Amino acid sequence: MQKTGEILAQLEKNKNINIQFSCHNEDFFKSIDALFAKLLAKMDMLYLLDYITTILREIIANAVKANAKRYYFKKIKIDINNPEEYAKGITNFKSKIIGKDTIENELAKTDYLVILSIELANDGIIIIVKNNSSIHPVEFERINLRIKKAKEYNDFTDAYDDIYDETEGAGLGIVLSILLLKNTGIGENSFSILSDKKTTKAKFTIPYELKPKTITTTIKEQILDEVDGLPSFNQNLLELLRLCKNKDTEIKEIVDKIIIDPALTSDILKLANSAGFFMGKKVKHISEAILIIGFSNLYDLLLVSSTRSILEKRYSKFHEIWNHCTKTAEYAKYIAQKFGKEKNAEFAYLGGLLHDLGKLILLATDSKFSNWISDLTKNRKIRSSTVLEEVSIGISHSMIGELMAKKWNFPDYLIEVIKYHHSPLDTNDKYKDFVFPAYLGNMLCQFETGKYNYYYLEETVLEKYKLFSRKDVDDLQKEIIHNSNGKI
Ligand SMILES: [Fe+2]
Ligand SMILES: [Fe+2]
Repeated sequence: MQKTGEILAQLEKNKNINIQFSCHNEDFFKSIDALFAKLLAKMDMLYLLDYITTILREIIANAVKANAKRYYFKKIKIDINNPEEYAKGITNFKSKIIGKDTIENELAKTDYLVILSIELANDGIIIIVKNNSSIHPVEFERINLRIKKAKEYNDFTDAYDDIYDETEGAGLGIVLSILLLKNTGIGENSFSILSDKKTTKAKFTIPYELKPKTITTTIKEQILDEVDGLPSFNQNLLELLRLCKNKDTEIKEIVDKIIIDPALTSDILKLANSAGFFMGKKVKHISEAILIIGFSNLYDLLLVSSTRSILEKRYSKFHEIWNHCTKTAEYAKYIAQKFGKEKNAEFAYLGGLLHDLGKLILLATDSKFSNWISDLTKNRKIRSSTVLEEVSIGISHSMIGELMAKKWNFPDYLIEVIKYHHSPLDTNDKYKDFVFPAYLGNMLCQFETGKYNYYYLEETVLEKYKLFSRKDVDDLQKEIIHNSNGKI
């Protein structure tokens, strides 16, 4: 595929562009993602990126699969119009071909093609994915039925019973695409599939003016109630936070308030004696510890330790999430230090530490869906789980975290990190130095679990850190792990 910048220039000049291919791989999808990131940013619609690329991934994969099926039937000489032979062919195709790359390499040598057309029309961006094989009437009927049904679902929870076992099938892709279109405000009726004797076309239009629809589900209501019911920080702590912000504060005022809280006292002493602050002799007194760590670090510590003490008591999944968050924090700190200003490193650390707060509530409210969303994100290679959370529950863990952070009066940069750690391109420029490290740190952390890989990474973030290849990213990850003293 051509460079995305060149494609975009042609598209802007001619108002339309055709991208032709016979099969796809992760590099191809990454280019498509990058192209749409640039296009939607120009249209000021970047918030749609994850939705649009998820839909595109589904319909492109379906188109290639349809061509592969026709090619395979021809190759093994199956009469597509004979129902018995057709049924046998489909079974073979599913067991021998799906998920394997062999047929895709063969497809590249045939006339079977897929064309992705993008047109900048007067009222919106028209997207068509066309492949040059027709749909078998039986399949076409089934697809239309699926589309009709999907349009009736309000959210993913409605569809759950019908499709939960179809994690690999095309049916789920259609339902997912239609629900995503509904949720973004593009509308379910924008999606259509047309077929004649030679071609099949899947089409949808993204209008320039959109009114996003808010989904309200029972789970979402439970989540909002849960956020509402979270305790506030206690009075002593709020007072301490205020004192840390005031440069005229006397150390004694702070000490008096800290010593009445034994857990806090021990956290502060621990921090002052940790590697980062170690002065050569053991610090035993809280006043000395505060002098060593400073008001600004103390403020961060107070915030984290209070958040932690509320959440730890309340949620059984706390340690699992916290473990991931401390690793992300280590990554984020290193990235901020290496590529940015030294003074941002501690902020980046804190961002990493608190980025997934919303997950605790999501997991506590309905783990059946949380697990399912997590599996689907992995199996269908969706760029971010927040997309599925929004269509199925009506609120993502990033949005839940944002609500929690606002409730507890977190500083603005932290709210921004929590809100945009899965969609860093949407963040305001002045917060990029905090959001990007948390985003990349979180992704690198999840490389280990196999949930995400290099192909999911935003090109813009990689460019900012001069990571031009997969090897650059791998090397960076190794370097960070190597220097983490076993913390990652
Ligand atoms: Fe997250
Ligand atoms: Fe995370």
